[in-house]
Amino acid sequence: MRDFAIMMGSAPVWRSWEHVLHSVRTGEPAFDHVYGVPVFEHYARDPEAAAVGVAGLHSRSVAENDAVVAAVDLGDARTLLDVGGGRGSLVRAFLAAHPHLRATLFDLAHVVRDGEEDERLSLVAGDFFAAVPGAHDVVVLKKVLHDWPDEQVTTILRGCAADLPGDGRVLVVENLVTPGNTPSFAKWLDLLMLVYAGGRERTEADFRALLAEAGLALRRVVPTATGISVLEATHA
Ligand SMILES: C[S@@+](CC[C@H](N)C(=O)[O-])C[C@H]1O[C@@H](n2cnc3c(N)ncnc32)[C@H](O)[C@@H]1O
Repeated sequence: MRDFAIMMGSAPVWRSWEHVLHSVRTGEPAFDHVYGVPVFEHYARDPEAAAVGVAGLHSRSVAENDAVVAAVDLGDARTLLDVGGGRGSLVRAFLAAHPHLRATLFDLAHVVRDGEEDERLSLVAGDFFAAVPGAHDVVVLKKVLHDWPDEQVTTILRGCAADLPGDGRVLVVENLVTPGNTPSFAKWLDLLMLVYAGGRERTEADFRALLAEAGLALRRVVPTATGISVLEATHA
């Protein structure tokens, strides 16, 4: 939790909470109000802040990856694409568990680092609002959709569905908001997404509807011991 704790106490997160009232009044991210640009644009311009953010998310991922890999039956899949995969710890966990698999890690240019590819892992830098690398049997989106409002989520999902083979799968990995007024990590994360990224956490029904907008059908939901769930979708 060390790097995640450092990230939570770093200026971009801390100052967003400081201005939570702005978000409550407007529904807009406090981050943009404080910094004048959305969070990922800020990180692209400030490598020091970006390094803290990327390390924080990486450390959370490391704690979740094994449970996510164990929750997924890859079947005959030979290729996997991790969209917004950050430093690539999840994609490497999939590769370690499935020796026949090849994978592509896709993220913004300042996140994807040169020199970390090998014969089974390709790195691609780009913008998922422009295009997503095509033709992979399985496309994974872990904690990516929660950064964005519904309209952008639909755009990202359509990009992922565009070149998905007929029997391909999209795996959305997120903390699901459970019904009722009971405490849950996803509800706290929902507030963080509001102040910091302008996104939100969602219920299973929310994801089912967003996937349908992109021509995808939610086939099953696999909860994991870490609290994060894997939502599996195919072409509708
Ligand atoms: C919350 S992080 C999740 C990272 C990783 N999947 C994980 O679970 O730790 C969201 C990721 O989306 C990436 N991202 C944001 N905007 C993007 C864009 N327009 N195109 C590609 N990746 C983007 C960020 O750089 C970041 O790595």
